[in-house]
Amino acid sequence: MRHWRGYFLKVHPLVYLALCILFLSAAVIYAYIQLFALRNQVLSLTSNLASTTAALATTSEKLALGLSTVDQKAAELSSTLSATQQKIVETQSGVESVRTQVGGFEQQVGAITTTVGTLEKLSKTDPELLQKYSKIFFLNEHYAPERVSEIPKEYLYDENGSEVIHAQVWPYLKMLLDAAKNEGVTLYIKSAYRSFDEQKALKGAYTVTYGAGTANQFSADQGYSEHQLGTTVDFITTGLGGQLAGFDTTQAYQWLVAHAHKFGFTLSYPHNNTYYIFEPWHWRYVGVELATYLQNTNNHFYNLEQRTIDEYLVTLF
Ligand code: DAL
Ligand code: ZN
Repeated sequence: MRHWRGYFLKVHPLVYLALCILFLSAAVIYAYIQLFALRNQVLSLTSNLASTTAALATTSEKLALGLSTVDQKAAELSSTLSATQQKIVETQSGVESVRTQVGGFEQQVGAITTTVGTLEKLSKTDPELLQKYSKIFFLNEHYAPERVSEIPKEYLYDENGSEVIHAQVWPYLKMLLDAAKNEGVTLYIKSAYRSFDEQKALKGAYTVTYGAGTANQFSADQGYSEHQLGTTVDFITTGLGGQLAGFDTTQAYQWLVAHAHKFGFTLSYPHNNTYYIFEPWHWRYVGVELATYLQNTNNHFYNLEQRTIDEYLVTLF
């Protein structure tokens, strides 16, 4: 059997060399192909990277643009909002100002209405009703209350008599008489409105009976009596035999001293007045305000200045 070496040694060395060259060439070609492929991949990746970067840049630009648009919109909205808020504030302030003006108008209208009401009341109130008479001022024979009310018999001392009083005073007098009765005080009306002629007849009769000097101390001449105003009454109570004298000793008088002002009545001729004797029965309606003022200041109607009295005319009724 032949050894393998025998075959091997028989091939020419150039063949070996050619084979080596061939093998190396193939290796180089293969390596080159591989390198070329890698180069192509690198080129492709580079290109991809560039286009991706470009796309990113575009996107970023777009985003930036979008953001700036959003910012702009936000700024616009913010400015619109603050303008709207400003408008609201202005509107509120406008509404407030209109309200204030309306309030002012209402106050003015209220004040004017009050003034008109006061003037209307004053124009309808007879100023004579708060004048001082009693030897000072004179009422002519035609003066009479505008309207009178008949005093119901139950309030008269003489049930067969007939007495009238100023129609606007009657509600106050009635309240006074009812209040007294409710508190167990016996109080009647002896005399109320007296016309000029009635006063004249009465004074004439007193003058005949007592003489002019004495009569002048307790009875007014016609035209000077508060009774002609229709706002004045003489009260009387039981237990005096129908007389006025002694009225100051009665519970009825004490009650009047404490309460008459609440109904607008005041005592015309207290002790030591300069006109007549003390007349505890003779009470004149001067309105609740003035009567209360006199009561609180412990003063009397004839001690006041006429201009002070006149300020109370508007509150007479
Ligand atoms: N007794 C009063 C003063 C009058 O007659 O009016
Ligand atoms: Zn009288």
